[in-house]
Amino acid sequence: MVEFNLPKNSRIVAGKTWPKPEDAKNVKAFRIYRWDPDTGDNPRVDTYFIDRDKCGPMVLDGIIKIKNEIDPTLTFRRSCREGICGSCAMNIDGLNTLACTKGIDEISGDVKIYPLPHMPVIKDLIPDLTHFYAQHAAIQPWLETKTATPGTEWRQSIEDRKKLDGLYECVMCACCSTSCPSYWWNGDRYLGPAALLHAYRWLIDSRDEATGERLDALEDPFKLYRCHTIMNCAKACPKGLNPAKAIAEVKKMMVERTL
Ligand code: SF4
Ligand code: SF4
Ligand code: FES
Repeated sequence: MVEFNLPKNSRIVAGKTWPKPEDAKNVKAFRIYRWDPDTGDNPRVDTYFIDRDKCGPMVLDGIIKIKNEIDPTLTFRRSCREGICGSCAMNIDGLNTLACTKGIDEISGDVKIYPLPHMPVIKDLIPDLTHFYAQHAAIQPWLETKTATPGTEWRQSIEDRKKLDGLYECVMCACCSTSCPSYWWNGDRYLGPAALLHAYRWLIDSRDEATGERLDALEDPFKLYRCHTIMNCAKACPKGLNPAKAIAEVKKMMVERTL
């Protein structure tokens, strides 16, 4: 059972069941979390029925169809439809993932959709990611240098560039951090897998000259060391990245610099 940040003193109730499409032979039910802060009502789960023969293959196609043809009040984020912008992250069939890369046919029963867990909800499927982005900014995700800027560009060998593979591909969707139990309980102080993956990406960049300062900034009982290698983050990542491994590498760098 996934837990959610429900509005205070509220519980999820049964919502509206919309009519099935007429003459459809291939129908799929979508059960979707709804919450509107303007009404003050309890969150509810509405049920919609989609004619699969008139819908694209992805879950995002399904919810866009619902918004366009059934219920324009359904609210969610999306942009690229290609798994690149990270904005359509939500909890689908019990797992955090991107709606645009999750196939409807991958789900055997009804398609159950909730917002990313343990985040404040702004409306329906839209979580408030303000704190998540602030944590990303806190690790200073940019090149820090001390030597004079070269006339042309900061060069990097092919071998050093390869060290960034498996890290730079992150689309900041928050699927990992919102699947991490340590982040659920200590998200105010634990940076979480997404921010720490980015921290490692800059720590091992051969061009960066602030490695010591970056490690100093992570030397804290909560920011880094709340990772207990539960591995939910790697399981959740829709880009196939492994934040837990990156975190282990940061911990190793912490130890090595004391030797
Ligand atoms: S490995 Fe660490 S960061 Fe990943 S889910 Fe587990 S505790 Fe969270
Ligand atoms: S590591 Fe994966 S799950 Fe985490 S924010 Fe990046 S792309 Fe999303
Ligand atoms: S819409 Fe951009 S990742 Fe899904």
